[in-house]
Amino acid sequence: MGKFNRTHMCGELNEGNIGQQITVYGWVQKSRDLGSLKFIDLRDRTGIVQAVINKDATEDLFNEAAKVRGEFVLEISGEVAKRGGAVNTKISTGSIEIIVSNMQIISKAETPPIYIEDDAKESEALRLKYRYLDLRKPSMQKIFFTRHKAAKVVRDYLDEKGFIEVETPILTKTTPEGARDYLVPSRVQPGNFFALPQSPQLFKQILMVSGFDKYFQIVKCFRDEDLRADRQPEFTQIDMELSFVDADDVMKVNEGLLQKLFKEILGIELQLPFNRLTYKEAMERYGSDKPDTRFGLELKNIGDIVANAEFKVFADTIANKGLIKAINAEGIGAKISRKEIDSLGEYVKVYKAKGLAWINVTEEGIKSPIAKFLKEEEMNAIVERMQAKVGDIIFIVADAPNVTDDALGQLRLEVGRRFNLIDASKYNFLWVTEFPLLEYDAEEDRYVAKHHPFTSPMDEDIPLLDTNPAEARAKAYDVVLNGYEIGGGSIRIHNQQLQEKMFGLLGFSSEEAWAKFGFLLEAFKYGTPPHGGLAFGLDRIIMLLTGTDNIKDVVAFPKTQTASCLMTNAPSPADAKQLEELKIATKN
Ligand code: AMO
Ligand code: AMP
Repeated sequence: MGKFNRTHMCGELNEGNIGQQITVYGWVQKSRDLGSLKFIDLRDRTGIVQAVINKDATEDLFNEAAKVRGEFVLEISGEVAKRGGAVNTKISTGSIEIIVSNMQIISKAETPPIYIEDDAKESEALRLKYRYLDLRKPSMQKIFFTRHKAAKVVRDYLDEKGFIEVETPILTKTTPEGARDYLVPSRVQPGNFFALPQSPQLFKQILMVSGFDKYFQIVKCFRDEDLRADRQPEFTQIDMELSFVDADDVMKVNEGLLQKLFKEILGIELQLPFNRLTYKEAMERYGSDKPDTRFGLELKNIGDIVANAEFKVFADTIANKGLIKAINAEGIGAKISRKEIDSLGEYVKVYKAKGLAWINVTEEGIKSPIAKFLKEEEMNAIVERMQAKVGDIIFIVADAPNVTDDALGQLRLEVGRRFNLIDASKYNFLWVTEFPLLEYDAEEDRYVAKHHPFTSPMDEDIPLLDTNPAEARAKAYDVVLNGYEIGGGSIRIHNQQLQEKMFGLLGFSSEEAWAKFGFLLEAFKYGTPPHGGLAFGLDRIIMLLTGTDNIKDVVAFPKTQTASCLMTNAPSPADAKQLEELKIATKN
């Protein structure tokens, strides 16, 4: 070997190449031996082409072809001809074949532990252990071409808008995104640690102080947090920051970015501007700050109707300042079984609800386990508020406000999924605005920043910082697509006094704030432009662009639920010598 004479990629060949002498390289998808005819399907990243060794071939060629097995790497040369057998309409090269004149086995392969086919059904663990084989599948390759193209569209768009990409450190100090840090020990300064960045938040703000005006970066972020179907411990942000802007400016530039992305990748024309919902309205109507607005079943408060009901659960909930809300699953009452209702009752318990009450409006009248506890006018008022008609079923949760919203919001999604109420062809974008500035953290018994400590309160709510900080709203915004939070950002505080006040509310003394973020506060002394920004979760955007609900599909080498890599077996124990150098002892 040594010289490679590729003339074409496998998937590029078509009837236009008939009569040409070509050379292709690839992996054997499958080979078939029909005695005097041998067929080899050769695959590269562009597709599959059929090669045939027929009666005109030399004996040597026949013998060589007899050795070929699945996933061998071959060089094949020959003439493109119209296919002798039936046309395969499933592949783009289906009407031609290569009449092989020369074939070389470049690399042999053992029988692979997973099938290199899109619909193969191996366990995820096996796919991740042999990720390099899994990535050979056409569907996986397609995802990474889409990911590449999306990143390029983003870079081109932001470049055109005057943004400059600047890299920021990976070995750094803790950043304030509220997850646990990944720590990296310093050898030269034993006992000291770097933190991997949860985001480039502080550096991008400093770049504004440096006068870069518009920054972006496609960048890895690291967060040690509980993993879910849309969360990885290391993930990629499209991160940006702009000077001399308000929230509307940031939103506008990002609507343009998403419009361009969806046009270039999916050919879809998004209508701008996107709808906006305040956080308060999103929670009221959907029980979620990232509502999926592709279907109805909105939440309604029925607390006023049942505040004095005989049903103790309802009366107690109201007495304890809880919340009683309901959804009307229109048309579902007529088809839902008792067993399914009970399983929805179990479903809400996962979200800490103590129970699920229901009212089925049937031809024969109301069926409900709580009918015996409600007066007729109370029941009628609920049915009327929920606009329920025959065939509908109302679900009710009574609990602490956050439990009611969360459990019923999740129930709404589950009913949507189970009963196919969600139109998968829709892309519903939405800004959620006016987030609370602060959030009470019961574990730490103090306020924490809902977004991060540098997020500015809304101007009209600044007086509330002294009187009722829990009610203050922030200049923060999230962009939501089909129930996923795909990005979030805020306008930052650029006034020293306000920043000090914010730290005070978060329970940091001035010394603590300086110890943590002193470099930023110091930078802010030397002429700070007003600024704000946003970061998208690139992985989540790719999930939505490629139609998967598993973030691992869009990360080339992802981590499992326990934050490990099954291919490399990371994390793994360190050498005693390494630990000694770092002056680290491990406990068992
Ligand atoms: P935030 O913490 O909201 O904001 O992160 C921005 C976006 O990143 C995505 N994301 C994740 N994706 C996959 N796995 C994870 N573990 C994960 N965590 C977050 C989400 C989210 O919307 N510095 C601020 C941005 C700013 O204020 O400009 C920040 O990081 O899609
Ligand atoms: P019980 O009398 O305890 O069987 O409750 C009657 C109905 O009320 C059952 O369907 C329960 O699931 C429901 N229920 C119990 N607690 C709650 C709650 N906190 N919110 C809504 N429904 C509840």
